[in-house]
Amino acid sequence: MAKNKGNCKIVIEKNGPYLVSGSLPLAAEIIVCDSESIPVKWDKGKRYPLRENYSLCRCGKSGNAPYCDGTHAKTGFDGTETASRKKYWQQAKKIAGPTLVLTDVPNLCALARFCEKASGVWQLTVDSGDPKARKLAIEEACNCPSGRLVEWDRKTEKPIEKKLKPSISLVEDPEEKASGPIWVKGGVPIVSSDGKTYEIRNRVTLCRCGRSRNKPFCNGTHLDIEFTDGDESLKPGKKSRR
Ligand code: FES
Repeated sequence: MAKNKGNCKIVIEKNGPYLVSGSLPLAAEIIVCDSESIPVKWDKGKRYPLRENYSLCRCGKSGNAPYCDGTHAKTGFDGTETASRKKYWQQAKKIAGPTLVLTDVPNLCALARFCEKASGVWQLTVDSGDPKARKLAIEEACNCPSGRLVEWDRKTEKPIEKKLKPSISLVEDPEEKASGPIWVKGGVPIVSSDGKTYEIRNRVTLCRCGRSRNKPFCNGTHLDIEFTDGDESLKPGKKSRR
């Protein structure tokens, strides 16, 4: 039973897995594309049994994915954390439109590609005086799993996004025939292997292919190496299209 969500956290083991505690729900979440192969929505995938504590593979080589099976120790996995410890706001570029301001930290990109629809989230922000462009810009930014992109209301100066429930999703990308990162939602604290806690955010993506150059965060390398965890949604004939 989930009874400890208020105390949930993820602790990164040095050159080892993510140690998850606090009964965080775990499920696959699938990128759905339109007929032009542009991502447009998320579908729910396989749900895993609820456990109070579990460890998720970080090296990408577990024979029991998504869980750790100890392979990292046999392969000499180097999980050195190289990501910036600066706060999101300190790293962000700002793009201002008439009703929205977009903040963007490209280093956090997990290549989910929702931001590419229509003229793209950057131009839609510039065009946000048009209600249709504004709506689409907000939708695209909110679908960004890594939290690279955040839209802010120019009048209220507040971010426009729903507070997500604490949970973990395993991103699956049938269009690219690849598995993506671990999508951590709802402000779950992530503790580095040196004991310091990363900035707590509503949306974050952690690398699970083992090859990101911005560990512990995903930087999209899983697409270059065609990483897969064998999820059902990636099997031939299961291409996910709206
Ligand atoms: S899962 Fe995206 S870079 Fe490893």
